Amino acid sequence: MSGKARLAGVMGWPIGHSRSPRLHGHWLERYGIDGAYVPLAVPPERAEQAIRALPALGFRGCNVTVPFKEIAFRTVDRLDATARRMGAVNTIVVHADGTLEGGNTDGFGFLENVKAGCRDWSAEQGPAVVIGAGGAARAVAVALLDAGAPEIRLVNRTRARAEELAADIGGPIAVVDWVSRETALEGAALLVNTTTQGMTGHPPLDLDLRALPVAAVVNDIVYTPLDTPLLVAARSRGNRAVDGLGMLLHQARPGFQAWFGVEPEVTPDLARIVLEG
Ligand code: ATR
Repeated sequence: MSGKARLAGVMGWPIGHSRSPRLHGHWLERYGIDGAYVPLAVPPERAEQAIRALPALGFRGCNVTVPFKEIAFRTVDRLDATARRMGAVNTIVVHADGTLEGGNTDGFGFLENVKAGCRDWSAEQGPAVVIGAGGAARAVAVALLDAGAPEIRLVNRTRARAEELAADIGGPIAVVDWVSRETALEGAALLVNTTTQGMTGHPPLDLDLRALPVAAVVNDIVYTPLDTPLLVAARSRGNRAVDGLGMLLHQARPGFQAWFGVEPEVTPDLARIVLEG
């Protein structure tokens, strides 16, 4: 790395667990780029100050993760259309004039991951069931609607949150009660779990898949473990299952390209590199 190295990073609190430095570090090496991608541990009360300081520090931009996606949304000078729709920013680009532009690539990462896992799948094929109503559910639902999904069935333990999210996003979204969640699976073409259920240390998602067509694709955005109980159950009854790691890998592509000038490729070896490092 020289004094002219291009700089980027990931801002969060805490940030030690982030896999992004490994991923971008691998791409920098692979493409022979004079650059660095560093973890930026910023206490919440200093997040706005840290974001505003990026141009002065010579950063080309950064990723923003929990809990700063909304602070970044409010702090940047400009938002791209996707970030505006998401109400959250995960990728900041510093322009030549020192202004900050916020984008959100989570939905892009989600769609690219499912498409890479199931080449013949497309959002238009049928209704999609989305479990959860947090930030991840918003990214998934918006991406699916923008890609032409005819209907989203939004299922959340706390119905009010799902209703709020559906009203905010707009479009063909039906909110389904948690107690009736299995009925939402009838005739669905895609099922996505955006909750923490099934993650290491959490109980499995409590969902009986009997009503789900065998042709449907099942995706879990959780990637620790890669094979969640939901994906194991889906596969055992003949559904195609897509794990969540690819969402992390694909959401990183637009930022890397903007900061370092190369469109990076998501290759099979990245799973090992990112997870085991
Ligand atoms: P994020 O923004 O990352 O999506 P979040 O806002 O914490 O995270 O949302 C987590 C999701 O997991 C929520 O939809 C939550 O449901 P509630 O809105 O009812 O809290 C869901 N979730 C968490 N624990 C759950 C459980 N035991 N059963 C079902 N859903 C659960």
